[in-house]
Amino acid sequence: MKRCGIAVFIAAMAFVSALAAGEFEDLVKKAGEHYRAGEYRASGETFDLAFKAGEPGKNLYYTAACAWSLAGENGRALELLGKALDAGFLDRKILIEDTDLESLRGGDGWNEMMARLDGRIAAMEAAFPAELAVLESIDLPEPRRDGAVSVEKAMAERRSVRRYSPEPIAVADCSQLLWAAYGITLTREKMPDFVRGGLRTAPSAGARYPLEIYLVAWNVSGLPQGIYRYESNGHKLQKIAAGDFRDPLAAACLDQDWLKGAAVAIVYSAVFERNTAKYGERGRERYVCMDLGHSGENVYLQCGSLGMGTCAIGAFTDLDLKRVIGMTKAEEPLYVMPVGRIEAGNRQ
Ligand SMILES: Cc1cc2nc3c(=O)[nH]c(=O)nc-3n(C[C@H](O)[C@H](O)[C@H](O)COP(=O)(O)O)c2cc1C
Repeated sequence: MKRCGIAVFIAAMAFVSALAAGEFEDLVKKAGEHYRAGEYRASGETFDLAFKAGEPGKNLYYTAACAWSLAGENGRALELLGKALDAGFLDRKILIEDTDLESLRGGDGWNEMMARLDGRIAAMEAAFPAELAVLESIDLPEPRRDGAVSVEKAMAERRSVRRYSPEPIAVADCSQLLWAAYGITLTREKMPDFVRGGLRTAPSAGARYPLEIYLVAWNVSGLPQGIYRYESNGHKLQKIAAGDFRDPLAAACLDQDWLKGAAVAIVYSAVFERNTAKYGERGRERYVCMDLGHSGENVYLQCGSLGMGTCAIGAFTDLDLKRVIGMTKAEEPLYVMPVGRIEAGNRQ
């Protein structure tokens, strides 16, 4: 049984359970049950039958390859991994670490497959820009500094929410959420340049503020669909792409299609160099993600105060998410937080 790659497995199965029943879906569910019971050959055979009945995505190809690898059928497993790559599977770390694939590593065809993957990854990485091209700058409305929900109530009721009401949210809601995430709350003369505008709603080690925050908007009244970067200094949105990105966003998040029911997603990345320049490896390993946790919790609590819900997403393919957002070379994606209104009694 795997100790790594489990996110892909869960995502693949969740994707299928979200679909209506049909031959393909039933067979994939059965293949998953065989896998969980340790019946790897039966699992692989059932996946093969399913793939004749319907079109699998990269995560299902990957999961079937795991079953065949555990069943000792390395040739079939590699063939399916090749199909996963062709369908866009990019997660090198999972391929290297997933215990299910142990018997394949170093054997026939493995190095060729990894070379093919590395070529694809190198081409993608070369295409990331050094700087964002900003299409338009939009001033956000002033955020409020007070509200009707106490911080205790917001904490007591905080839950990860994956089901949302279809109604749009307002630009003022986006303003409030982004301010909660990383808004500036104190400016002083003669602050060092690295502070970039002032101290913020979330604490940050050494005030290095390594995070970048994007808003992917698809259901906001008064804001065209698109991808925006939040500029804390001046409380602005910088438009970097126009259009509806919820499908590629959900696909990058290992097919977590529930996120498409939200109105927006707040997407975090970090420029680790801002921290490592001062703190070395400690900045990389500890401080960046501590900063992220502070900011992400602010978003959860602000949602509670606005009658909205969110759910942190850490399961995604880094390169896919980086490409969907159009991040710069220096950034590494860290978190996705879909946000939408919630219907009363629908917290889950
Ligand atoms: C770092 C991190 C990553 C997470 N990734 C996901 C994810 O990819 N998909 C998801 O549905 N939930 C994700 N969650 C939400 C957790 O499942 C959730 O916080 C947990 O079940 C506890 O539930 P609660 O937040 O309602 O208290 C993540 C949470 C954290 C803190």
